Amino acid sequence: MTKVKGTYDVLPSESANWQNLEAKLRKIFLSFGYQEIRTPIMEYYETIHRHNEDSDMVKKETYDFLDHGERRLTLRPELTAGIIRSYVENKLYVDNDVTRVFYMGANFRYERPQKGRFRQFSQFGVELINASGTLADAEIIILISTILKKLKIKAQININSLGDQDSRNHFKTIIKEYFSHYQDHLCGDCLQRLEVNPLRILDCKVDNHQDFFLNCPKPLDFLNAESQANFVKLQKILDNNQIAYQVNKNLVRGLDYYDELVFEIISQVEGTPLAIGGGGRYNNLVSDLGGPATQAIGFAFGFERVLSCLPPTKNKPLDVYCLFLEEGSLDYPLLNTLRQAGLQVKSNLLIAPLSKLLAKAYRDNPRYIIVVGSDEKAQGLYSLRNATTKEQIQTNLPNLIKIIKENK
Ligand code: HAM
Repeated sequence: MTKVKGTYDVLPSESANWQNLEAKLRKIFLSFGYQEIRTPIMEYYETIHRHNEDSDMVKKETYDFLDHGERRLTLRPELTAGIIRSYVENKLYVDNDVTRVFYMGANFRYERPQKGRFRQFSQFGVELINASGTLADAEIIILISTILKKLKIKAQININSLGDQDSRNHFKTIIKEYFSHYQDHLCGDCLQRLEVNPLRILDCKVDNHQDFFLNCPKPLDFLNAESQANFVKLQKILDNNQIAYQVNKNLVRGLDYYDELVFEIISQVEGTPLAIGGGGRYNNLVSDLGGPATQAIGFAFGFERVLSCLPPTKNKPLDVYCLFLEEGSLDYPLLNTLRQAGLQVKSNLLIAPLSKLLAKAYRDNPRYIIVVGSDEKAQGLYSLRNATTKEQIQTNLPNLIKIIKENK
């Protein structure tokens, strides 16, 4: 038996990396006033496959299936659609307030697995719902910048504006017309994009060095006055707050629901520049999913890609290994007291000679070892061995806890 292609196991020795990152992120999100939302991993097919979502990802990469009740379901390829479905279904809009949520969770995309790309992967991110305007855009970019700073990740934040839906649709026809003159020079993928999603041609890494590509029209040149003013205002706020960013006029996103501000966070993952995160404004998704007209913006980072930018975290060492020499010396209240004192404690599961028990205990790298025989138990005096110095003393329980805690 092997794991499914494109998936991975997080082994016990690696899980501290995840826990540590999750804990840091929770702290940052809560400090910005975001609360956690958890939505199901599966959604009805229609929530993900919306009539106006033409992205390759949703069209070709989702895991779709019928359940035993013949319901058509999709494993989520991202969390945003499910979260907005939940926002609408639970009528979180009734008080007309701004909703700030954060999330962490698994996604599924049938992609070609390679470095930093999996078929089951995890994201963390936020959605800021019912929030229009530049201050909301700025909050999101500042939150991203804070995450990068706190995690000490070197990355570039690229931003662009696609304009409102009308400008975006107008630009789509312009770019389609423009590239249709260069069909002989376009790669196979771009020829397909020309038909289905011409905006994505701008993102092509194969054609992007050719002259006709470099000179192609850009969404920024087709913004209406309001979108343009908003984009300039955002840059001013970021400049005034020393938030580093780069305008990338070719930046478009893989998903189709975006309008106005879009952005991507690029970092070196094992020596290759890779998008560790991305997002943008989506002002029509709430109404597309049956809610009232509601503007929103959000982002998601790939957990695995962020983790590969960070130094590994070591698991916390075991505080105490308790060795009971005979069945009669078993002392569960002792274990309980040590655990209640906040210590990590293991004990032997088989009775064996001391030398054998010690050899096994040392394999777990405990800081201390307590040896308990029937005499010790009766007297309440325990042998406490410092596992590094091998020094051993006999002492009572309060003193023993004091020593172990003091030397943490
Ligand atoms: P996305 O750009 O499709 O956006 O994904 C965000 C991040 O997830 C990517 O930058 C990447 O780090 C990671 N990622 C995507 N696919 C994979 C994969 N196959 N393997 C490993 N990592 C991957 C979204 O998903 C939007 N929902 C973001 C958003 C939130 N927009 C608004 N709100």
